[in-house]
Amino acid sequence: MSIYQATASAPVNIACIKYWGKRDTKLILPTNSSLSVTLDQDHLRSTTTSRADPSFEKDRLWLNGIEEEIKEGGRLATCIREMKRLRREVEEKDAKEPKLSSYAVHICSRNNFPTAAGLASSASGFAALVASLAALYKLPATPSQLSLIARQGSGSACRSLFGGYVAWEMGSSPDGSDSLAIEVAPQSHWPDIHALICVVSDDKKGTSSTSGMQRTVETSPLLQHRIKEVVPARMAAIQRAILARDFDAFARITMQDSNQFHAVCLDTDPPIFYMNDVSRTIIALITEYNRVSVANGGTLKAAYTYDAGPNAVIYAPKENMKEIVAMIVKYFPQADAFKDPFQLFGAAGVEGSVVEGFNAAVAKPFDVGAVKNLIHTRVGDGPRVLGAEEALLGANGLPK
Ligand code: DP6
Repeated sequence: MSIYQATASAPVNIACIKYWGKRDTKLILPTNSSLSVTLDQDHLRSTTTSRADPSFEKDRLWLNGIEEEIKEGGRLATCIREMKRLRREVEEKDAKEPKLSSYAVHICSRNNFPTAAGLASSASGFAALVASLAALYKLPATPSQLSLIARQGSGSACRSLFGGYVAWEMGSSPDGSDSLAIEVAPQSHWPDIHALICVVSDDKKGTSSTSGMQRTVETSPLLQHRIKEVVPARMAAIQRAILARDFDAFARITMQDSNQFHAVCLDTDPPIFYMNDVSRTIIALITEYNRVSVANGGTLKAAYTYDAGPNAVIYAPKENMKEIVAMIVKYFPQADAFKDPFQLFGAAGVEGSVVEGFNAAVAKPFDVGAVKNLIHTRVGDGPRVLGAEEALLGANGLPK
């Protein structure tokens, strides 16, 4: 008997132009277009194995070893149903194709980063789910077509179907058929962009993206200005910056858009706060670091951006990363040695320091643990189909 099984991995993405607001909450259609950088799967990824079998009684899913309920009409159920619909089209065109669309599926997914790190895993998770089912079903679909389905799992997931620099075009059709991800430029176009994720400790339970953005849509007048006047111009400008590999323009727009996203959160009634004192201190450090460069006749050397939580993501050309890590470590001493995947520092490890001319008084150093982890990564590729040796489901169709 044949085994129908496939495994795929998908990357995390971090937006430079933020998605915040839905015009259709069921189909997950956004109120503005957005743009992100896909991060390297060598450091952060979700891996998913999907299997179809006539003996399976119902669709089941395990996430990091724990079975999740697939709620009827929920986001997971929608993605699985839509993927089966595409499979059915394949079967209708070719009668020799096994009727996999009529079998239940078992899906097992794992992240290689701890959920406790506070990194959004829904984007890489839904992208890996869709990529593994597309491989299982041998769908002739393009990444943009698959992004239409990942979008219905979590909006930002649609952008994880591509590597490099990715736009989610908001579209205008009420059925969502033109609200999809497109590749602005592949990783190879501008491989020099690196990212430092500063994992900020945070014990309070924040407002989820889904409920937070809905409240912003309902109450923020500033969001209306952002949607109509600000984002369309920024989408065009940042795409030009990426195509020209113009880091100065890329950084300026990225920081402006992070700031405006957090401004519309503050403009929400009641207000939503995602950044904390640590987040704001990192803004002050990057601002001073850039000021020194510009004062010396240079360009912006780093850009910060924050999602719906206090973690900072700092984008910079690779050549600046050593200075940036040393600066962050000076103000945020680390309990553990910096994991140095690009070997910026020798055996002695990182010593905190700032560049010449830096006004050290822009911030006060914090205690160990305020930034609990630093992850150095870079722009990466899109979903990968993996070999059978990487499968997460055992011969019995249950998690290994
Ligand atoms: C701040 O994609 O998590 O990270 O569509 O409701 O699942 P849902 O929301 P989600 O929102 C992400 C918001 C953001 C900005 C971004 O990634 O563009």
